Amino acid sequence: MNASHTPLPRHLLTLDGLGAQALTALLVRAQAFAEGHYDRRALDGVAVCTLFFEPSTRTRMSFSLAAQRLGADVLNFDASTSSTRKGETALDTVKNLEAMGVRGFVIRHHEDGAVAALAPHVNHDTVLVNAGDGRSSHPTQGLLDMLTLRQAKGADFSKLKVAIVGDVKHSRVARSDLQALRTLGTGEIRVCGPASLLPDADTLQGCVVSHDLDEALQGVDAAMMLRLQRERMEEGLIASLDDYHRDYGLTAARLKRAAPDAVVMHPGPINRGVEITDEVADGPQSLILRQVSNGVAVRMAVLEALLRG
Ligand code: CP
Repeated sequence: MNASHTPLPRHLLTLDGLGAQALTALLVRAQAFAEGHYDRRALDGVAVCTLFFEPSTRTRMSFSLAAQRLGADVLNFDASTSSTRKGETALDTVKNLEAMGVRGFVIRHHEDGAVAALAPHVNHDTVLVNAGDGRSSHPTQGLLDMLTLRQAKGADFSKLKVAIVGDVKHSRVARSDLQALRTLGTGEIRVCGPASLLPDADTLQGCVVSHDLDEALQGVDAAMMLRLQRERMEEGLIASLDDYHRDYGLTAARLKRAAPDAVVMHPGPINRGVEITDEVADGPQSLILRQVSNGVAVRMAVLEALLRG
């Protein structure tokens, strides 16, 4: 089978290996949802649980809303008040929720590969969606970022120059974005950050790597800024937040180096005044809140595709 024609897998664990056709089909479906075309009973009688072992605002709320809009019964599992506090494992938690009839699990976990590790043990009709695992993958963020770029720049990514800037090393968003941008045939992918915050060469394959933000922004169509992930960072990777902002913060003056109609994106939550200034984050070229809106539509498309087939 041609790699671009790979079908959607049973679980959405990563965008790695997802072909262009399946990825584009999800974006087209999400666009229809974004325009309000959906069946409020599509997931009638299906129970979906958001199972988050790490904090979240956007991903968790938008998955809940997405499932509700399609008519699913939604359970929001709160790790801090659950029996995981008494030592129950993630797998036992899933098995117990399956016993209550839950079929869809949206899972965020701090360990790389934690969601994939559950997959061999779940019921044959259970589906898992990775809502972010460690530094590895955040597939629905990758999809919503592609939908946002597609709305702004059109479906042909081959002429686009996109810069991903900041803490790429600790970012699951960057990994999913890189996978999706490659799959969609993006013309030029630039990655920019201090050497201490860039990942291994495999992750950066095919990218133009730079440590100079002014250079990396020159003529780009989109600047995808990343959050400085201080919770995943060892001490000493950056000298100070002020130094980081001076060298890698996106300011209005710097943004002038990009194409005049360039768009600015950020997955959130934002460290205002660190990786991006208020003026840019809230400015006319920012699509940050559009990304959040698109998150609901993309997650509806994913839940529908996996739970309805
Ligand atoms: N972008 C993102 O994953 O945000 P949350 O951590 O708030 O879900």
